[in-house]
Amino acid sequence: MDLKIKIVEKKDLDKFVEVYKSAYKKLGKYAYWREKDIRWYFRWLSKRDANGFFKAEINGEAIAFVACDSNWHGLYENVGEIHEIVVKEEYKGKGIGKKLMEVAEEYLKSKGHKIIELWVGEENHVARKFYEKLGYKATDKFGVWIRMVKKI
Ligand SMILES: CC(C)(COP(=O)(O)OP(=O)(O)OC[C@H]1O[C@@H](n2cnc3c(N)ncnc32)[C@H](O)[C@@H]1OP(=O)(O)O)[C@@H](O)C(=O)NCCC(=O)NCCS
Repeated sequence: MDLKIKIVEKKDLDKFVEVYKSAYKKLGKYAYWREKDIRWYFRWLSKRDANGFFKAEINGEAIAFVACDSNWHGLYENVGEIHEIVVKEEYKGKGIGKKLMEVAEEYLKSKGHKIIELWVGEENHVARKFYEKLGYKATDKFGVWIRMVKKI
């Protein structure tokens, strides 16, 4: 598998719409569904921290991405935030999400962060297991969202 991790460019955002929809197919309540909302969300992620927005490519095709935020103000403490990670449905379970998280953590560490925060849907059991495996711990709940953190 020829996997490359690169910084996201503006031209990638169109292609991410399908990646995002396929990844969230069974998790409707935690995702945007209208195309214009998804595009707005991607633009927002880019603006938050363009250098912390990474994609995974296989044979030149973008099949996954992670969006970090080194400028985020956490609710409780100074954190590096991970806003989003998605892997296209047919590429799940191959270690690509884990690789992107490693890149995200390295990036946030390079920006001086010692704590990483993310929020995950309470019934998104796959993602919760994924994060737990990577060392994240649930610390709080707000509505349907569970806050998870990791010290790096
Ligand atoms: C969560 C997500 C990003 C994981 O990506 P992935 O590339 O499939 O994950 P990986 O293959 O790197 O898995 C890493 C570890 O996570 C765990 N994991 C991944 N998928 C799992 C599943 N379906 N069930 C249980 N554990 C799972 C495994 O322990 C795995 O380690 P192992 O391979 O040593 O067993 C992917 O499922 C996804 O895109 N989900 C939809 C979008 C989403 O929910 N994003 C999170 C928003 S907060």
